[in-house]
Amino acid sequence: MSITAKLKARRTYKVIGDLKAPICSASIDKSSVDLLLTASANAPFHCACDRVHKTELSSPVPWRVHKLQANDCNKLKDFLIESGDVTKVPNMLSAAEYLFQVTWLPDEDTIINRGAGNDEQAFSGTLRNMEHIAAASAFIQSLLLAGEEQGVMTYWSSGGALKSAEVFEYLKIPLNQLLLGAIFFFPKEIEHAQIKQGAMKDARGSVEEWSKWCDLS
Ligand SMILES: Cc1cc2nc3c(=O)[nH]c(=O)nc-3n(C[C@H](O)[C@H](O)[C@H](O)COP(=O)(O)O)c2cc1C
Repeated sequence: MSITAKLKARRTYKVIGDLKAPICSASIDKSSVDLLLTASANAPFHCACDRVHKTELSSPVPWRVHKLQANDCNKLKDFLIESGDVTKVPNMLSAAEYLFQVTWLPDEDTIINRGAGNDEQAFSGTLRNMEHIAAASAFIQSLLLAGEEQGVMTYWSSGGALKSAEVFEYLKIPLNQLLLGAIFFFPKEIEHAQIKQGAMKDARGSVEEWSKWCDLS
């Protein structure tokens, strides 16, 4: 399939699994996952992350990925249920063969209120932060496409409870990172699950509705 065809075919699939029947195997092995991540990390990036972020992992890219395979998704599911989560996130963890907690890395002096549960004011909107988010988003889109090519269903979630300080602490993700996407990989074939598509999938409009030629004549 051409890249253009892949771009057109990519779709969100949210798989609401059975809490009592978590999946226990994966269609993609861990080393192949790292190959997909490596390929996706060819996404463009402009500014190196603040050096404070290089203490956990050393790369200058403005994103980090904390990876969970199916059995750890299941442990995280149990953690959320014990914490009183009644959303569909535990069901999706039950159906996931991988979860990638993809964070972006705000410049240290722009972080506000982290850990205080105030998501609306987590960081200052600086030009550098905008570019960090843009680069991390390009990485995520690449990861979605790479996953689709391997035959899994993918879902970019804002995270719900997965972006909470409690989950970050449970997964040992530094609190100065911010979740940009909880990226789910679900197996193509799954029993006892409900599959939902993205609410906005047909809402884009035509190219004329979101682009125009600049006429300088
Ligand atoms: C930054 C971002 C956050 C998203 N968060 C959610 C989410 O929390 N819940 C959800 O149902 N879909 C979420 N989505 C997926 C969108 O719903 C989906 O992309 C949209 O409906 C279009 O569908 P499509 O991806 O199949 O074209 C998110 C997408 C992006 C880019």
